Amino acid sequence: MTSNVIRPADIRDVAVIGLGLMGSGIAELVARSGRRVVAIEISQSFLDQGMARLRASLDKAVTRGKLTDTAREEILARIRPVHDIAAGVADADLVIEAIPERMELKRTLYAELDQACRADAILATNTSSLSITEIAGGTRHPARVAGLHFFNPAPVMKLVEVISTVLTSPDTAEALALVARDLGKTPVQVSDRAGFIVNALLFPYLNHAVRLLETAQATREDIDKAAAVGLGLPMGPLTLLDLIGLDTSLAILEVLQAEFGGTRYAPAPLLRKLCDARLFGRKSGRGFYDYRHSTPATTAEDHDLVSAPVPGEVALIKDQDGLLDELASQITAAGISVLPQPSPETGLIIVAADPKHRVLDAALAVGHPADVVGIYFTGTGDGKPGLAELVLPDVTAAATRAKAVALAARLGLHAVTSPDRPGFLTEALAFAQFNDAVRMVQEGFASPADIDTAMMLGCGYPRGPLQMLDDAGPANVVTVLEAMHTTTGDPAFTPVPLLAEYATAGTRFRS
Ligand code: 3HC
Repeated sequence: MTSNVIRPADIRDVAVIGLGLMGSGIAELVARSGRRVVAIEISQSFLDQGMARLRASLDKAVTRGKLTDTAREEILARIRPVHDIAAGVADADLVIEAIPERMELKRTLYAELDQACRADAILATNTSSLSITEIAGGTRHPARVAGLHFFNPAPVMKLVEVISTVLTSPDTAEALALVARDLGKTPVQVSDRAGFIVNALLFPYLNHAVRLLETAQATREDIDKAAAVGLGLPMGPLTLLDLIGLDTSLAILEVLQAEFGGTRYAPAPLLRKLCDARLFGRKSGRGFYDYRHSTPATTAEDHDLVSAPVPGEVALIKDQDGLLDELASQITAAGISVLPQPSPETGLIIVAADPKHRVLDAALAVGHPADVVGIYFTGTGDGKPGLAELVLPDVTAAATRAKAVALAARLGLHAVTSPDRPGFLTEALAFAQFNDAVRMVQEGFASPADIDTAMMLGCGYPRGPLQMLDDAGPANVVTVLEAMHTTTGDPAFTPVPLLAEYATAGTRFRS
């Protein structure tokens, strides 16, 4: 059988429709690859904004010495901004559509493309959530319609998901995978299902982080630090939501919720409120963080914690595994007395915390529960300093918390405070995502290797979620998830059967 796959070299003229955050990045990427780009927007002002963003990105590359002035001018010369769709797409070998995520807009556009494009042109949508099958179904040549899903920032993130519908021809999918490689990306091929691989795993985790914030379990900074330092991710979930855009994120969660149901995808009310307030994140100047000022505003509470005095003595209740031995040495080296048992005057008692068990029980056993803080160290095992989670049962006094925070600051620890809930902050966020990843494997949607590749290249994970799960130990993950389920009553935390089976058998997902 002869293949009709279009080779990347045959794709010289590309139309990019929609010059928002993603479209302008995609147009830049394609023009950088030496291809001619027609950059299309519906109005002159949107066109100007998109081109300004694209120019700023190229200027930044020049400033950082990554691109010469001449190369920038050559790239810009290959981009022709227009707002006439029909004229813009007439010669295109490939059309990449990145317009707003509204099905009625897409259908209208694709009807127009049907008339205006060459019959052999490939139409690729960068939709992150809508049904590509529905988009393709309304066209005359659905075999040549597929998804080509880039990640923000498009010039940087290495992954492209190539999504086939039941109508997409294998040649189209293959041609898009080859083009993606030619653009310097790694393609992962998947079928059309809401969220594909990455968004279906990323957004419930992001949503979980918003829930932790809105239920006052942790500050935005601590939630972000838990993910960035504790898991080694390039940015925390709330910072990432601000980068993606809260409106886009809400729309994606709504689609996931409609497709899969369940609590993991139901958008956190706070996310909706921020969107109602038009606080869309970085692009609007404010979201979870405020980008209009160069230094982040500190709260009065932050100030009280930072200015609390470092205690002169600390009681450290040694555990059998010696988890606190190094901490004891650090405290002593800082000139603070370490007592093996608390006295009524100690004021700060530290116990080793275990994400599977309540610190409260240890606090009650020690006596003086208001003075007790649990400490749990997590790290990525890559030699970088890990995270110290300061775990606070509800009975811990505010003064004790302040002393623990001041002590951690004196010792130079990367510390966050967490409520006394199973998994604390880091493992609660991570293990729930690992469970979602195993569910995806169980449903036969993607292999463990593809899931790990997608999350590493699409979101900059240092290791994929299934590799991280193996490293944490499936049995350990199951125990924490079961404790999370018991405490919250949320069935989403129940370990999926495949995970429970692997935990029992001692099997790993990545060998
Ligand atoms: N455009 C172009 N280049 C950019 C850029 C942008 N917006 N932002 C950063 N860069 C480049 C920088 O110029 C730099 O390039 P260099 O190494 O050649 O000098 C490189 O990226 C690293 O940038 P910085 O040093 O300034 O910053 P960081 O090291 O902190 O990296 C980051 C920034 C790449 C954004 C990193 O934090 C990261 O990987 N974050 C995770 C992003 C992520 O998860 N994206 C996926 C979101 S989900 C999605 O997009 C799907 C959609 O459907 C919603």
